[in-house]
Amino acid sequence: MAAPFLLVQLSDFHVGAPGGGRDPRRCLREALDAVAALPDRPDALLASGDLSDDGSPQSYAFVREELERLGLPYFVLPGNHDDRAALRQAFDLAGEGEEPINYAADLGPLRLVAVDTVLPGADRGELDDIALTLIEAELATAPEQPTLLAMHHPPLHTGIPPLDGICLEAGARAGLAAVLSRHPQVLRVVAGHLHRIVVGELAGRAVLTVPSTYVQARLDFTATDFGLGDDPPGFAVHAFAEGEIASHVQPIRGE
Ligand SMILES: [Fe+2]
Ligand SMILES: [Fe+2]
Repeated sequence: MAAPFLLVQLSDFHVGAPGGGRDPRRCLREALDAVAALPDRPDALLASGDLSDDGSPQSYAFVREELERLGLPYFVLPGNHDDRAALRQAFDLAGEGEEPINYAADLGPLRLVAVDTVLPGADRGELDDIALTLIEAELATAPEQPTLLAMHHPPLHTGIPPLDGICLEAGARAGLAAVLSRHPQVLRVVAGHLHRIVVGELAGRAVLTVPSTYVQARLDFTATDFGLGDDPPGFAVHAFAEGEIASHVQPIRGE
């Protein structure tokens, strides 16, 4: 049996976050060291937003240098903490300035469709009618190609009020569900932003959020504010084989 195609997803590096707690640069370095130490060499990397906390060119330069260290193809998408123009410039992404960053990439056996869910100035995510039309058109160009749909804000309901307050807005979630219902080639929807592992479902497809490489959100269903816990950081390995994706979430052991 052929080895699976491996796409590693890392998220929410928050490089440039104010000091005092963990060092986000060191956390990212440790995460990429852990990816490099995997017994199987991944085929590609995906960074699912909040790469930087401050949107500075210096933060993106550091992230780019770290991602390139592994010598693998890598793909980035924006989160609410990112600055689209600075991210675009640092990673040579198509488009101009503050325009949304949407693209598709043929990874070989698997197609990646990256969707920009950022609503500038807000923590919650949005997909307006223009964005939904764009996703529909992108998916329609390769209806037979197994596809992973990636974004920063998850189309999920978590049951944790402060997390639900920052997910993809309900109307956008319903709109995306309608698009997915017409595109069975989308096998999984993956996101970041929640700084927790959460699995849900949209239009019959599993929706997964992966941990942050930096700090994790606390499991507390009565929480009124976004609180941090002491869960370990981690990353996901999406293994595509036999027409299916198995998503493994790998914690990163600290010292
Ligand atoms: Fe984040
Ligand atoms: Fe975020």
